[in-house]
Amino acid sequence: TNIFVIYGGKSVEHEVSLHSASAIMNAVNKEKYNIYPIYITKEGIWYSLGLLKDDIGDIEQLKKTSSSTIPSSIGDFLTNYLKHDEKNIVFPALHGTNGEDGTIQGLLELLDIPYVGNEVLSSALGMDKVIMKDLFTKENIPQGKYMSLRFHTWKDNSEESLEKIEMTIGYPCFVKPARSGSSVGISRCENKDELKKGLQEAFLYDNKTVIEEEIIGREMQISVVGNDYPKASVVGEFIMERRFMDYNAKYLDGKLIPVIPARLLKNLSDAMRETAIKTFKILNCYGLVRVDYFVTEDNKFYVNEVNTMPGFTKSSMTPALWEKTDGTTYPQLIEKLIELAFE
Ligand code: DAL
Ligand code: MG
Repeated sequence: TNIFVIYGGKSVEHEVSLHSASAIMNAVNKEKYNIYPIYITKEGIWYSLGLLKDDIGDIEQLKKTSSSTIPSSIGDFLTNYLKHDEKNIVFPALHGTNGEDGTIQGLLELLDIPYVGNEVLSSALGMDKVIMKDLFTKENIPQGKYMSLRFHTWKDNSEESLEKIEMTIGYPCFVKPARSGSSVGISRCENKDELKKGLQEAFLYDNKTVIEEEIIGREMQISVVGNDYPKASVVGEFIMERRFMDYNAKYLDGKLIPVIPARLLKNLSDAMRETAIKTFKILNCYGLVRVDYFVTEDNKFYVNEVNTMPGFTKSSMTPALWEKTDGTTYPQLIEKLIELAFE
């Protein structure tokens, strides 16, 4: 079997993807599978590294190797690599836009190549925080107050937009690009001035924003893995020092300590796991999803967001959750995801 691991990509989560991909490639059994790394630069140029023989050392090496090969157009890849063949499978180790949002998945559907993880619809739904929340509302998934604002509405009448947000959500609130990841472009706003700045910032990344009420609570995560009969992991919690999980705290500081399982009342964690399975089904997921929660002091939980291709580094929550849930090791989890793609 040939596994094409695609990573990098035109996304603000480009760097995270490199870390996920190198961990994934190092974990794959190279006796059993041929690994072909495919790097997409931030500009969207595709590179092939050919057959991977040794483990990836560090991320810089991965990038150097990548850029020393001959660049290709997507077209070259379609004719030379990503061909329909029962031996071929793709692992899209991409986060955020142009990879976790259904775009790559659509290409792979056209090519008729099996791939790991979510298909077009679930990827797209998971990426769009507004549509996702609208669906959750319909199914009574507990979540905070939110509203969406499109750029043209904001441009046409900023004052009216601000007033509407103040009336519907109030302060403090969070402003986010509707379709982005890893907390990029997010602001916490306490007054009109900050709200204005927050919206301007978020609109740099997307022409649609979501404005959410602040929920003060512990941040917890659950991984769901499977296809038709998905299973939920135990609940994990990141103990952190920052006010909210911003980009630096998430990936650069190393100050987040995962506590697994999170210290919770049993009936609360059971309800959260049930809800995780429910969100998996609402979004029509396949393979995997990570559901992120807030849990308040009075033991209420709220779904914050989902990631249809969550971070997969050695220290990421998803593998850690499974290790503590049923002893699944990192390589076993990767193997499982590959098997699910062939189902
Ligand atoms: N979006 C990043 C990769 C995560 O949530 O894990
Ligand atoms: Mg994400």
